[in-house]
Amino acid sequence: MVVEPATRIVGHVAVPGDKSISHRAVLIGAICDTETRVTGFGRSQDTEATVDAVRACGVEVVEEGHDTLLVLGQGLRGLRSPAGPVDCANAGTLARLFAGILAGQDGQAFELRGDESLSARPMGRVAEPLREMGARVETTDGHLPLLIHGAPLRGIEYALPVASAQVKSCILLAGLYASGETTVVEPQPTRDHTERMLAAAGARVVVQPGAVAVAPAGRLDLGELAVPADFSSAAPFVLAATLVPGSELHLHGVNLNPRRTGLLPILERMGARITVYNRREIGGEPGGDLEIRSASLVATSVGPREVPLAIDELPLYALAAACARGESRLRGAGELRAKESDRIEATVDALRALGVRARATADGLVVNGVPARLRGGHVDSRGDHRIAMLGVVAGLASGEGVRVEGADCVAVSFPGFHDLVAALRREAA
Ligand code: S3P
Repeated sequence: MVVEPATRIVGHVAVPGDKSISHRAVLIGAICDTETRVTGFGRSQDTEATVDAVRACGVEVVEEGHDTLLVLGQGLRGLRSPAGPVDCANAGTLARLFAGILAGQDGQAFELRGDESLSARPMGRVAEPLREMGARVETTDGHLPLLIHGAPLRGIEYALPVASAQVKSCILLAGLYASGETTVVEPQPTRDHTERMLAAAGARVVVQPGAVAVAPAGRLDLGELAVPADFSSAAPFVLAATLVPGSELHLHGVNLNPRRTGLLPILERMGARITVYNRREIGGEPGGDLEIRSASLVATSVGPREVPLAIDELPLYALAAACARGESRLRGAGELRAKESDRIEATVDALRALGVRARATADGLVVNGVPARLRGGHVDSRGDHRIAMLGVVAGLASGEGVRVEGADCVAVSFPGFHDLVAALRREAA
């Protein structure tokens, strides 16, 4: 698709429910003893894969509306081996978190599969701790397909070799089934949605600086869960409104968990004009509304501590850097190479195809920004939703427009993304 330049970005917008929290609501709802009503569910290809996955294992999910689900939990040990493999599609969160739950289904066997992109992503990082806990887990050379034989588990203390909320969550979920306590030590803080939701469901979760522990659970009970809007889906609009002159955009009901909003302080350092107002709690998470006005940006660098807090927004940071005066460097972000695409290469290629001076490093990138409108060009999404969104924001902020190859893959996380962009264009007209 071709994305024409925007005159300005104005209006009031609510993006769909948080993808990470939506996955967790369905997965944890599936092992509750009672029904869970999920409102504000972020419907997408990824989260629908999670609904299908729990259904395949014997959990009924009633779709009461587009974004309201009733998950009829089967209890902690109530999941059943499906007739065939469970299809995780493109969803790393599903594959890794579900693996932790399935490992605790004593006497049942499961096979997890995924699409080409997910099948190229590392799964040894969950297989190893689950084996240490007593599950039988077979990977295919460290990748999907994954065979999991549920077994009686024992608690472990596990120091994560990489900062990963998915791996942390996998181990904590398995810890619900273990004898004794399970502790995960994190090299850097990562998103804590699993800890929050398990505590809300009645599990005993102890959070210490740098570590989180979970006790074996007897039963879980979530009840109602209101999912806040996804900061990662809001972020492209935050950047578009920052870059397109004359913009004034409001984003409502957004999840503002500081473990997710690392892009905000980064953009603020660069000179962005972002105001948070109406701070409130939404579904057990810090939330609020955002007002964004356009601004001219200066370069800033991002290091390892900030990386997990902005992990899915780092391609957008690189685009911001392209439009900021001076050299910006990203370090300590090697994990980007293990995402839906190699996001270091995909981001650098996209920026270069837009005429930006950028280069990849082993664990990050360097961008030489110019505070002027991007010329335009083409961006190859490589089938990665976050890169497609980078391409669309670049188009809006460009002088001549951007052709985005494979723009449809935004549906992995945000099926209505292009429609929302079109609606904002009409608003500005
Ligand atoms: C996620 C955690 C992050 C993030 C992914 C979703 C989650 O991955 O990139 O999109 O829901 O736990 P890692 O923290 O595992 O790197």
